[in-house]
Amino acid sequence: MAVDLLLGLQWGDEGKGKIVDVLTSNYDIIARFQGGPNAGHTLVFNDKKYVLHTIPSGIFHNDKINLIGNGVVIDPVILNKEIENIKEENVDISKTLFISRKAHLILPTHRLLDAASEKSKGKNKIGSTLKGIGPTYMDKTGRNGFRVGDLESKNWKTKYYDLSKKHQQLIDFYNVELDFSLEDLESDFFEAIEKLKKINFVDSENLLFESQDKNKSILAEGAQGSLLDIDFGTYPYVTSSNTTAAGACTGLGISPNSINDVFGIFKAYTTRVGSGPFPTELFDDYGKTMSKAGNEFGATTGRPRRCGWLDLVALKYACRINGVTKLMMMKTDVLSGFDKILVCTKYKYRGETIENLPYNLSEESLEPVYEEFEGWSENLRELKSADNLPKSLNKYIDFLESELNIPIVIVSVGPDRKETLFR
Ligand code: GDP
Ligand code: IMO
Ligand code: MG
Repeated sequence: MAVDLLLGLQWGDEGKGKIVDVLTSNYDIIARFQGGPNAGHTLVFNDKKYVLHTIPSGIFHNDKINLIGNGVVIDPVILNKEIENIKEENVDISKTLFISRKAHLILPTHRLLDAASEKSKGKNKIGSTLKGIGPTYMDKTGRNGFRVGDLESKNWKTKYYDLSKKHQQLIDFYNVELDFSLEDLESDFFEAIEKLKKINFVDSENLLFESQDKNKSILAEGAQGSLLDIDFGTYPYVTSSNTTAAGACTGLGISPNSINDVFGIFKAYTTRVGSGPFPTELFDDYGKTMSKAGNEFGATTGRPRRCGWLDLVALKYACRINGVTKLMMMKTDVLSGFDKILVCTKYKYRGETIENLPYNLSEESLEPVYEEFEGWSENLRELKSADNLPKSLNKYIDFLESELNIPIVIVSVGPDRKETLFR
């Protein structure tokens, strides 16, 4: 049985959590393949809202396996809080939640290093979520990391203190004031580790091999978005993992030829949290309306998200890199009431018109070229079928499908599970 992938095509927060939850009933296993608690995946059902950071978004379906893959980085303190938060839904994680032994742990000093690095960059900071993501992946690729499986050895604390001491020398090197105290962070960390040890640790690639042999279906859940990919994103304003389709292979141990569908999720407009280039960013009333109607505040940090028109040049690039087979358009309801909708189809760059992303998106000479569409005024949240979408929205959808040459199979019209229209 093949594996399907679901990933974000923009700068994150496209609505991945919602759609994974909606699609979970079609799969046996939901597996997160990269990122860590920098992610905030929001699920809304039965008038309740949950934000997941590390746990896959299939967790509320009690008969499914949810796997945190080797490519994920885990903060045990945050993971425990998530587990506490979902308890009221009677989720039995002893049967449904599995963690790869090869996943790396975020140590308290990784968080301090993240904060020190950001502070030392001043106005050039990445705008990191300060969850310790960058330093943890640095230790992974630098071959110094601390893995979940290390907790099964008796002398794990020696390994912990060796690494932590090294980090402290680096933190001293930055020579900046930090708001965190290592002592407090460490006491929470050690307490959380004892709880973490009670969760099922597995050799996750084997679990997935065996599941594939038994014809089980797997949905791989991405975090962040393609433009935050460490290789293909707007470097250096990116995260530290491969958020694109290839990341699912390395982050789970699935082979490229076992991948079937690649679901690409995008908002009907664009948002970004943190620093970095954003060619279609709006500073006018259209942007303010998107921010307000879309409630555009980060699910992890609460920071306001920057808003702008849809960037088709960037979206095409993301579809290409990921091999997207099906598209899902999110937050379409947010654009209801706009008198016009703009889509960036090209850029003006160094006096020329281009249709691809240049090496440096921050150059002042880069300017979006827009096509204009008629808006719609209907409240989409009340719709029960995609057959009843307003005419001008259908025109917008037809245009995107023809430009991208990929079908849009879901139009999302609200945060709730039920506010999902299939085409
Ligand atoms: P993720 O990180 O990709 O899972 O997305 P987030 O959860 O960070 O951000 C998406 C936000 O939009 C959350 O607050 C969702 O509840 C909300 N949301 C998802 N889909 C829709 C939609 O179609 N319409 C509206 N209005 N909100 C949505
Ligand atoms: P989900 O999975 C949106 C952004 C941060 C920052 C940059 C680097 O919810 O879509 P990091 O903490 O990874 O070192 O931050 O990446 N970022 C996200 N933006 N959604 C996310 O995840 C993000 N995870 C990281 O704001 O600009
Ligand atoms: Mg999010």
